[in-house]
Amino acid sequence: MQEKTATALNTDFAQEVREGLTDYPKHLSSKYFYDEVGDKLFQDIMAMPEYYLTDSEFNILETHKEGISKLFMGNGGAFSLFELGAGDGKKTKILLRNLVEKEADFDYRPIDISQNALNQLEASVSFEIPEVRINTIQGTYFETLADIAKQNGRRKVILFLGSNIGNLLHPQAVEFLKNIRDILNEDDLVFMGFDQKKHPQKILDAYNDKTGITEAFNKNLLARINKELGGNFELDNFLHWEVYDPETGTAKSYLVAKKAQKVFIEALGLKVNFKQWETIHTEISQKYDDEVVNWLADKAGLDIIAQFSDGQSEYRDYVFKKSQR
Ligand code: AVJ
Repeated sequence: MQEKTATALNTDFAQEVREGLTDYPKHLSSKYFYDEVGDKLFQDIMAMPEYYLTDSEFNILETHKEGISKLFMGNGGAFSLFELGAGDGKKTKILLRNLVEKEADFDYRPIDISQNALNQLEASVSFEIPEVRINTIQGTYFETLADIAKQNGRRKVILFLGSNIGNLLHPQAVEFLKNIRDILNEDDLVFMGFDQKKHPQKILDAYNDKTGITEAFNKNLLARINKELGGNFELDNFLHWEVYDPETGTAKSYLVAKKAQKVFIEALGLKVNFKQWETIHTEISQKYDDEVVNWLADKAGLDIIAQFSDGQSEYRDYVFKKSQR
């Protein structure tokens, strides 16, 4: 424990936990949902009937794979297919299979923060679609954009599926898209999923399942603090609460203290007081419409050159190019 305490103090996780729990109102970042337990919980979420996002995007890729592959292949030259936050690659495999079928000259470079997720992905792709040349890259989006930039020989196609961008507030999303724009060459493409505004109840249900998987997913943050930073959170003393604002399109998640309590986090030497009903904001899941995506792209210096949608326009994948203006 001694040694662990010393190193834990210097990690981003430790620093952000200290900042978030000493701020008012309190907050913790959803990027720390994803350890081995969290990866598994997110897979369970994707399999829930209420979590429509995965099915919607899966159907879009299945329906439009021919057109998407043709866009990716361009004039037929070699390209690298990068994927930010690849996860289990279930949706990407639709495209990988189609590209292999078309004898596209490409390699697949999935990027994920979780080495565990990458190992599983590499094994399953090699087994299911052995024709695919796969090279994994472990790291955060930010770290790996620099790596991607250095790969200047080949044309790049960058995938960012699942509406993962929705975890960013608009100003951060513009920053992120600008960072991507800066590493693009003229013929490179970005293919990105944006969950769309829809009936507010459908959105609330997706983030509010009765089985408690989403609650456990959020509470995994507290479990990680207990495990990795020597915290003593009582998970049962908190409830998970979801709100959706149909005006802004922002879904927000909270953990709410059911009673007044004190929590001690050993590695930080930090005592945290909670009043009854005090909140910890944990995640935003932004919902979009065409107008907002156009605005984000414009701000970031990107052009939308194509978009693919499901029948009800509940979810959209957009294809961006570096703007030549
Ligand atoms: C993986 C960030 C797209 O916000 O919809 C699922 C994560 N959170 N249920 C989302 C999540 C709660 C998900 N993203």
